[in-house]
Amino acid sequence: MNPEIRALFPGATAKVYLDVSAVGLVPDPVREAIEDHLRVRQLVGGDKNELWATVAAARKGFAGLINADEDEVAITKNVSEGLNLFGVSLPWRSGDNVVLCPGLEHPNNIFLWYNLRTLHGIEVRTVEPRDGHLPVTSMSDAMDERTRLVTFPSISFAPGFLSDIEGLVSAAREVGALTLVDAAQSIGAVQTDVHALGIDALAVATQKSMMSLYGSGFLYIRREVADGLIPIHIARYGIDLEGAHETAFSEGELRFKAGALRFDLGNYNYLGMAAAGAAIELLNRWGMGAVETHLRSLSAQLAAALLDLGLPVVGGPPGSHLAHIVSVGQSGGGRHYTADDPAMNALHQHLMENGVQHSVRSGVLRLSVGVHNDETDIDRAVELAKRWVRTTGYSRRRA
Ligand SMILES: Cc1ncc(COP(=O)(O)O)c(C=O)c1O
Repeated sequence: MNPEIRALFPGATAKVYLDVSAVGLVPDPVREAIEDHLRVRQLVGGDKNELWATVAAARKGFAGLINADEDEVAITKNVSEGLNLFGVSLPWRSGDNVVLCPGLEHPNNIFLWYNLRTLHGIEVRTVEPRDGHLPVTSMSDAMDERTRLVTFPSISFAPGFLSDIEGLVSAAREVGALTLVDAAQSIGAVQTDVHALGIDALAVATQKSMMSLYGSGFLYIRREVADGLIPIHIARYGIDLEGAHETAFSEGELRFKAGALRFDLGNYNYLGMAAAGAAIELLNRWGMGAVETHLRSLSAQLAAALLDLGLPVVGGPPGSHLAHIVSVGQSGGGRHYTADDPAMNALHQHLMENGVQHSVRSGVLRLSVGVHNDETDIDRAVELAKRWVRTTGYSRRRA
């Protein structure tokens, strides 16, 4: 990406910011959209038609980002709300099952399935990751004619590899199951075409590679699937009032809006929508293809260089599994904020103390690049890692 893009992110030069998979940096145009929105709220309150127009623009942007139709996109406040809205609205029968790989999931795509087990007597079928990868064969082996849903991340929470979405969708379809994708990590980082991939539902939030705020997101549901669902929560923006005001509703049969629109509830996070709309304008201007190429090139450089230093890069040499996240350590070990390996904790501390912002998740150091990064960031992180390896003799100890 060119230097003008980096210049839009004041936070990009304060530190080596490699933590987009925790939370992304907000660029100037997004901050300006937030300020404009607040100024209107402060001075004149806010015209409802304009607020709705902000939501409509964001929805159009969300749909465009994933090649969906606008009525396949519901507005939500985060990933877990999207996952839950969809998950609980499926017509579960006792003995149905859901298949997932909890070792690669954020907890928010685990809890709800156990809740549905209590509520509806469903079976939660779990499989183990394979070297940090989502194991399509074991997922497929766990499916049968009672599998209603297969859920997985597009890019795992940790170690952050791309999933084989085509393989999983095709396996789910073979048994007549639906697919639900946690796309928290991928939207805004990699190109996604939900129609081409055949995904049934996908949940996203806007604070990571979408470069905007916490507390806003969206839920895609394929039109044919959504039209057959009865939302558990229902409010005015999900009801088709044929243009009448909501107070016109008396007793009668509720008519839901078309597709995923029925999952919209009451007032929106208009501020979040203003921010997301501005962020999507930027992504569209830069081109998602160019963004993805940039991120994958930087992460490949980082992974290769850290491997050369003898560090345990999860997944080994850069390959098709790598998107914008590079993880170092023993995948699957540790607690949320620490690795099991004291050496990895020391490396984490060394990088953080020297201004390389990143996270530890599921026992690995998770370094994730954004559009604001360039090669100088990668060089700096690698140089610091090299210094640490030299002073601690880490690679010698391993050999
Ligand atoms: C894969 C994944 N899913 C979900 C979340 C968060 O879910 P929510 O937006 O509901 O807080 C995160 C990160 O915070 C994540 O990495």
